[in-house]
Parts: sequence; structure tokens; C-alpha cells
Amino acid sequence: MKLQLVHVDRIIDLRHAVLCRGRHRKHAHFVGDAETTTIHIGAIIGKHAVGCLTILDRPFSGEPAWQLHGMAVDPLYQGGGIGRSLLSFAETRLRQIDTYPYVWCNACVPAIQFYEKFGWVAVSDEFVVPHTGLHRTMLKRL
Ligand SMILES: CC(C)(COP(=O)(O)OP(=O)(O)OC[C@H]1O[C@@H](n2cnc3c(N)ncnc32)[C@H](O)[C@@H]1OP(=O)(O)O)[C@@H](O)C(=O)NCCC(=O)NCCS
Repeated sequence: MKLQLVHVDRIIDLRHAVLCRGRHRKHAHFVGDAETTTIHIGAIIGKHAVGCLTILDRPFSGEPAWQLHGMAVDPLYQGGGIGRSLLSFAETRLRQIDTYPYVWCNACVPAIQFYEKFGWVAVSDEFVVPHTGLHRTMLKRL
């Protein structure tokens, strides 16, 4: 498994299968995907993306910050350490870029403990994101 920066086209199928299953494929394209500051990271096995996440330049509480979203691991590979590797790779890269001190995300409730394992802290109450259920905003200092 190789972690690398990828073009968004390489992770649309995985996003669709994991994050937007049963909905039209167009929903796997997210606002901000094509912004020049956006970073897409893939976990690649052979030619296939089996894990992915995206980092956007989006403020938090009015301060410049990074937002993580679209985190997904192929169900066949979940529990095998790919999510941990993706998060670590992304956070290392953001520290190297050394622009903003915080990264945040809107985490779906079943994934909150995953993020907590890696030092993220929930900073909001639960709220509903249409089609994807309950979420909480989480924050990590880089
Ligand atoms: C959540 C997700 C990204 C985690 O990726 P993964 O590759 O399965 O996670 P890893 O194998 O790297 O797990 C790392 C650690 O987190 C734990 N973990 C993983 N998913 C967890 C979860 N949902 N809740 C609690 N702990 C979790 C693992 O048990 C492991 O713990 P350990 O180090 O004590 O063994 C992945 O399961 C996934 O894509 N889920 C569906 C989509 C999703 O929820 N995306 C996030 C949207 S906010």
C-alpha cells in the first residue's frame, strides 16, 4: 500500500462506494475539490485507491485553518491500519506546509472514536448532515 497525493478523479469511485452509497455518483464530487489549495491523498494498492481523504483550506471559528473531509477506506480493508496511515500522512504534510495551526472536520458519529484515538477533540454538539446522518465537529492542533 502506497500513500500519495492524487488527482480527485482517482478517489471518486471510492468516495461513492463508501460515503455516498446508493446515491448518484455526482454526489461523490465535493465543493472545493478543484481549488488550487485542495489536497487529495490516496492509499493505493496496485492501480486502485483503497483509502482516501481530502484537505481543504477552510476557516475554523473565523481563523484560517485546514478542513479534512471525504475520509474513506474500502470496507475490504477497514481495520487494517489504512485510516491511521492516511491521517498521519495528511497531518505530517500539513505540518510541513506550516501555514495554519489547526485542522478540523465534521465527523460522522460512528467515526468519532477513531479520530479521538489520534488526538482529535469533539468541539460541537451533534448535528444532522442531510443524507449522511449525525455529525460532530472535531478539531486537532497540528
Ligand atoms: C473510519 C475509517 C476511515 C477508519 O479507517 P480504518 O482503516 O478502518 O481504521 P484503522 O484500521 O486505521 O484503525 C485505527 C484504529 O482506530 C480504530 N477504529 C477504526 N474505526 C473506528 C471506529 N469507527 N470507531 C472506533 N475506533 C475505530 C481501530 O480499531 C484502530 O484501533 P487500534 O489502533 O487500537 O487497533 C473507516 O473505517 C471508514 O472508511 N469508515 C466508513 C466511512 C467513514 O466513517 N468515514 C469517516 C467519515 S467522518
